Amino acid sequence: MSVTLKSSEDIAQMRVAGRLAAEVLDYIGPLVKPGVSTGEIDRLCHEYMVEVQGTTPAPLNYAPPGYQPYPKSICTSVNHVVCHGVPGEKKLKSGDVVNIDITVIKDGYHGDTSRMFYVGQPSIQARRLCDVTFDCMWRGIDAVRAGAHLGDIGFAIQSHAEQHGFSVVREFCGHGIGRKFHEEPQVLHYGRPGTGLRLQAGMIFTVEPMINAGKADIRQLADGWTIVTKDHSLSAQWEHTVLVTETGHEILTSSAGTPARPHAAF
Ligand code: MF3
Ligand code: CO
Ligand code: CO
Repeated sequence: MSVTLKSSEDIAQMRVAGRLAAEVLDYIGPLVKPGVSTGEIDRLCHEYMVEVQGTTPAPLNYAPPGYQPYPKSICTSVNHVVCHGVPGEKKLKSGDVVNIDITVIKDGYHGDTSRMFYVGQPSIQARRLCDVTFDCMWRGIDAVRAGAHLGDIGFAIQSHAEQHGFSVVREFCGHGIGRKFHEEPQVLHYGRPGTGLRLQAGMIFTVEPMINAGKADIRQLADGWTIVTKDHSLSAQWEHTVLVTETGHEILTSSAGTPARPHAAF
């Protein structure tokens, strides 16, 4: 029950796992188009991980306490689905937005990252939500450095989301990650500056805000996994795995295709 500091060997392996997770998103991005089903996206990602990368999809059969084993290799969360959307027959259509969340295991280490993808042309509202959520993730990441507190991350995210009239999902959070998929600490996406755990160099965790266009309330579907907004408003999420360093942070889930961080003021 504690937050581990990673060794330099752990960190080297987490860089590899993180890059590989991001590369699955690079691979699948161009294939996210109207008419493709989320099940097909899952199958393509699964094959890429297992056959091209030699990685293991961490979600497949993942069963935290209180959950049935997750049946697929990735999560695909479309429109009002907040997270843990289970891939299936449903075909994507123009105007949809979808979060694809990839977690790979390489040599026992986990890399976890997600991005939003537009299917055809997004509405102005959907584009705005995805952009603000991206900026929320980066504001959170920018608060990461040795000596800062977890509450600084949550505050940075929450204040930006709420300034834009959006709401932060409370029930799910970022997490420590390493040899285990979900470790301590819990990285809340809301909070107050200067509160919570003090960050130390060598900690590794995810920052993965889920932001709703409407109210924050969520509901779980009967499949035991899929989380949707109660009011059916759109929801967006972005995720990186991040290493705390003395001077700031290092993004572990970057690849050739990782969208650039916002520049200047955002
Ligand atoms: N990748 C998700 C996260 O960021 C967790 C998915 S759990 C699953 O923590 F079983 F649904 F895959
Ligand atoms: Co995660
Ligand atoms: Co994830």
